[in-house]
Amino acid sequence: MPLICIAAPKGGVGKTTLAANLAGALHCAGQPVLAMDCDPQNALRLHFGLPVWDGAGFLMQLPLRPDWRSLVRDTASGVALLPHGANDIRTALRLAAALEREPELLLAPVRAMLAEPGLILVADLPPGPSQMLNLLAPLADLVVTVLLADANSAALVPEIDSGRFLGSGALSAPQAARVRIVLNQVEATSRLSRAVAEAMVRHLGPRLLGAVCRDEAVAEALAAQRLLHAEAPGSAAALDIEDIARGIAALLPPLPLSTEPVAP
Ligand SMILES: Nc1ncnc2c1ncn2[C@@H]1O[C@H](COP(=O)(O)OP(=O)(O)O)[C@@H](O)[C@H]1O
Ligand SMILES: [Mg+2]
Repeated sequence: MPLICIAAPKGGVGKTTLAANLAGALHCAGQPVLAMDCDPQNALRLHFGLPVWDGAGFLMQLPLRPDWRSLVRDTASGVALLPHGANDIRTALRLAAALEREPELLLAPVRAMLAEPGLILVADLPPGPSQMLNLLAPLADLVVTVLLADANSAALVPEIDSGRFLGSGALSAPQAARVRIVLNQVEATSRLSRAVAEAMVRHLGPRLLGAVCRDEAVAEALAAQRLLHAEAPGSAAALDIEDIARGIAALLPPLPLSTEPVAP
């Protein structure tokens, strides 16, 4: 049913961390969730306990028209996962060229996923204005955009305001209305972090979904290859993420309850 894209104008801001843990928090709230890794870094799987050597995935196989259902992985968290798959430059170029020629290679299976009753699809996007974001943003109910509470991120706010970050053209303005922002790694003890966070609250208003504090438990959960609420329940960042997941759920259309597993 709904598609939530997790994106950012720059890398290393916590997109994958938030994609994994928001998927987990939405699943805990009672909906089936499918997390799809669209970033060739193929890192989303690490939050869900897949071994580093496991290079199987969905996105990298798109030119072969794979059956997405057969590639869905069950995870201990209960979130269903479509990893990107291991990647090299030749595969990446072949995928980009195939999608340029035939966007339906991605859009047809995504529409099939969105037709699943009650299913929430969370897509982890590559940094910046990517081909993947360009294709998926028009289908998205929400584009959750992750920023840090620092000067670099503050400088990117005009890109987000104008919708340029989602690509140029007539669609960028209506799509900008679906953009919501999450501030990550906010530090209450840092003057700069506090000042940027306060300025973002003033400027973004209701477009700011919430903030996640910088918390070592986040990196520890990744090291343990578990979601934050399983590894460090009650940690400050886990509570922040639960809050944001509630905010996201409130923005989505009402969902039918479903107990059907995603994979056949
Ligand atoms: N709130 C946080 N507190 C502490 N570390 C964080 C937090 N969010 C992300 N990180 C760490 O920042 C790094 C980058 O996060 P990641 O999710 O991989 O970013 P991206 O997907 O945007 O490249 C990782 O090492 C992650 O553990
Ligand atoms: Mg990432």
